[in-house]
Amino acid sequence: MYTFPRPGTHVAAHVMAFYNEPQWCVVGDTFVVGCKWADSIVYGPESFKDNPDTYNPKYNTKYGMYSPHCGLEKLLISWSHDEYLYQFLKHNNAKIPEKGLLMIRYHSFYPWHAGGDYRHLTNEKDEETLKWVLEFNKYDLYTKSEHVPDIKALWPYYENLIEKYIPCGICEF
Ligand SMILES: [Fe+2]
Repeated sequence: MYTFPRPGTHVAAHVMAFYNEPQWCVVGDTFVVGCKWADSIVYGPESFKDNPDTYNPKYNTKYGMYSPHCGLEKLLISWSHDEYLYQFLKHNNAKIPEKGLLMIRYHSFYPWHAGGDYRHLTNEKDEETLKWVLEFNKYDLYTKSEHVPDIKALWPYYENLIEKYIPCGICEF
């Protein structure tokens, strides 16, 4: 039996890359498809020049295939380790509260939470999610230390958290 490594957001990305998912669909910023590319998407104009959606008039409007303030849940967002880990935890009944799961689901959605785009598509409920995503962001990119932690000393602390929120057995398949 193979035991899935305990999930962390980027650990999920590494595992996806290991199983031959191309780099572009496991890490990097996520963005909405089905409407005009947001200005804040990093490397957007260069990345999207070969994407047929760029030239499809149905998707080149402010709202594209969406209605105003339809909410994050209705948006089709580019595939990434965010969505993979969110679906993995949700379908395995992880005990992480909904706001924590949404924090995982949207943490790479930088054009939204850092760029300020897509506010014409999000709604009031999403403002609450935004607060938690921004809280998580303090510990995301560019916050890693060069100091290698003492894994053995830290393990009991993290093991308790794992047992509480991701009970033993759900990660085995
Ligand atoms: Fe991540």
